[in-house]
Amino acid sequence: MKVLVVGGGGREHALAWKLSQSSQVTELYAAPGNPGIGALAECVHLEEIEPLAAFARQKAIDLTVVGPEAYLAAGIADVFARYGLAVFGPNRQAARLESSKSFAKELCRKYKIPTAQYQVADDYQTALAAVEKFSRPPVVKADGLAAGKGVVVAQSYQEAKEALAEIFQAGRFGQAGSRVVLEEFLPGEEATVMAFTDGKTVLPMVPAQDHKRAGKGEQGPNTGGMGAYSPVPAVTAEVYERAYNEIFLPLLAGLRAEGIDYRGVIYAGLMIHENRPKVVEFNCRFGDPEAQVVLPRLVTDLAAICQATVEGKLDEIELTWDSRATLGVVLASGGYPEEYKTGYPILGLPQPGGLVFHSGTQEKDGQLLTSSGRVLTAVGRGDDLACAQREAYELLGKISFAGAYFRPDIGWRALTK
Ligand SMILES: Nc1ncnc2c1ncn2[C@@H]1O[C@H](COP(=O)(O)OP(=O)(O)O)[C@@H](O)[C@H]1O
Ligand SMILES: [Mg+2]
Repeated sequence: MKVLVVGGGGREHALAWKLSQSSQVTELYAAPGNPGIGALAECVHLEEIEPLAAFARQKAIDLTVVGPEAYLAAGIADVFARYGLAVFGPNRQAARLESSKSFAKELCRKYKIPTAQYQVADDYQTALAAVEKFSRPPVVKADGLAAGKGVVVAQSYQEAKEALAEIFQAGRFGQAGSRVVLEEFLPGEEATVMAFTDGKTVLPMVPAQDHKRAGKGEQGPNTGGMGAYSPVPAVTAEVYERAYNEIFLPLLAGLRAEGIDYRGVIYAGLMIHENRPKVVEFNCRFGDPEAQVVLPRLVTDLAAICQATVEGKLDEIELTWDSRATLGVVLASGGYPEEYKTGYPILGLPQPGGLVFHSGTQEKDGQLLTSSGRVLTAVGRGDDLACAQREAYELLGKISFAGAYFRPDIGWRALTK
């Protein structure tokens, strides 16, 4: 099987790493890939959908695995399908599960999937009036894709209104903010359960929890994610069962009833309170950095899973998981997510036997340099999370670049329980 991975971050490195272990994969390509992926696959410098499809046709690619949501929302699966190319990832219509928060909320309401109460508004005045109707300050969300920056968990009604002014009056998110979702604040602990689905069968993966804040103890600004781990104590057997029965199954039935053909990964962001999960959001692809800790626990051949997904034969697959825990720590550029510099030489790589995924690296004149805010994710594995944590930090300690920053407390929630 010839496989193409689309994307070039840590998630795609983890995907390429797992795919490269498949006995079925004879050739592996990545576009654009990164230097870490380059050790496993041939990287091609393509980013636009049409040239990617032309490349896939020319190379007779059997399976394309798409990492980033932007491609899916832009309809990469639809374009590839038009050329008869198999894609792991939902089509444009199905990807609305992530690209329109109001669409996802409507599905939840209609198919009785537990989630926060909400209201949708398409203009500033309506939204302002809606704010007052919530018994606590509501969470304000831009409807469309906003690179993880479109949500304000308001501490006061005033803050919620200011967020609305930013969205509607300042036009902060452009088209993605032409509509907002106002949501009831949900208390609890967050965790992620992702699942493979071919639209008929849904196979949940092991849970993960990520750390979004830049600083120790969940302080500081929001980031793309500073680390993650799996398993997650908050996702008890009961929560996992409920997520399957009360979230994934009705969602799948709902998607089918709406005539939506969903094939790929569904990421359910959950808020868990008193052992009950509610949906915070859905994403239409693997999480980053969740993929970096979940995929190393997957024993089943990923290429086989992806192919079965595309062919609608997921009922023939059984997922097997490594019982060992994983914990990943992101090494970031100093200053991230605000201002930071790139282009610094990275020392201490590769780490033989160590699991280090590249997120923002580039190669120049044979030297590995930083190229983005999140640079690498070091993943430790162990019999329990404490062992995995020790291994991750040990691995991270061997790698360095100017201004490197990481959180020292990834996994604290699980480890202080
Ligand atoms: N209803 C809610 N109650 C409490 N916290 C929320 C709620 N909705 C979102 N959040 C918080 O805001 C974060 C971002 O919201 P989310 O819907 O996941 O949007 P995105 O990932 O697209 O930015 C969540 O991870 C969660 O911490
Ligand atoms: Mg989210």
